[in-house]
Amino acid sequence: MKLDRALGLLREVPDFPLPGVVFRDLTPVLADPDALRAVVDALQDKIHPDTQVVAAIESRGFLLGAALGYGWHYGVVPLRKPGKLPAVAHRVTYDLEYGTATLELPAEAVVPGQHVVVVDDVLATGGTAAAACELVERAGGVVTGVSVVLEIPGLGGRERLVGREVNALLSV
Ligand code: PRP
Ligand code: HPA
Repeated sequence: MKLDRALGLLREVPDFPLPGVVFRDLTPVLADPDALRAVVDALQDKIHPDTQVVAAIESRGFLLGAALGYGWHYGVVPLRKPGKLPAVAHRVTYDLEYGTATLELPAEAVVPGQHVVVVDDVLATGGTAAAACELVERAGGVVTGVSVVLEIPGLGGRERLVGREVNALLSV
C-alpha cells in the first residue's frame, strides 16, 4: 500500500480528550495490515543507518518500536511512565500544558556509545520526545534522530528538538 493511502486512514476525533481538541487517532492505520507495513517501512527509510536501538515511548510508540526492532534487527527499549519499571536508570520530569509528566529509562538498557532512535506515534509540543532524548543521553547513548508518524505543527515540537534530526511521515 502507498504511504498516502495508509495515512489516509488516520481518524480525527473531535473533543477528545477535552472539548475543542481534535484528536488524531492512528488506531485505524495500525489496525490495517497493509497500512501498518507501509508506515513502519516509511519510518525505517528515514532512520540513520548507524542506529542500533529503538527507544519506544509509552504507549503507542511501543507498537511502532517493536515492529521496527523485529523488522530491522534493532534492540527495543521501552521508555515508560512512572511506576512501571522494576529497575530505573534515569527519570526525566517535563512540563505539560497543565502540570507535569515523567518518563523513565530502564536500567541496563542503553549502553554508553550506543546509537539510539527515539520513536513515537505523534509529536505535539515535543515535551515527551525531548525527555526521551534526554534519558538516552543521560545513559551515554547517542540520539540518531526522532521518528514519528504524525507531527502536529504549531505546537512547538520541532523548536523543542532544535539540533536533532526529526522525521515525521505526515504534518497536520
Ligand atoms: C501522546 C503521544 C506522544 C505524546 C506527544 O501520548 O503518543 O507520546 O502524547 O505529546 P507531546 O509532544 O506534547 O509531548 P500520551 O501521553 O497521550 O500517552 P499514550 O500513548 O499512552 O496514550
Ligand atoms: N493524537 C495522538 N496523540 C496526541 C495528540 C493527538 O492528536 N495530541 C497530543 N498527543
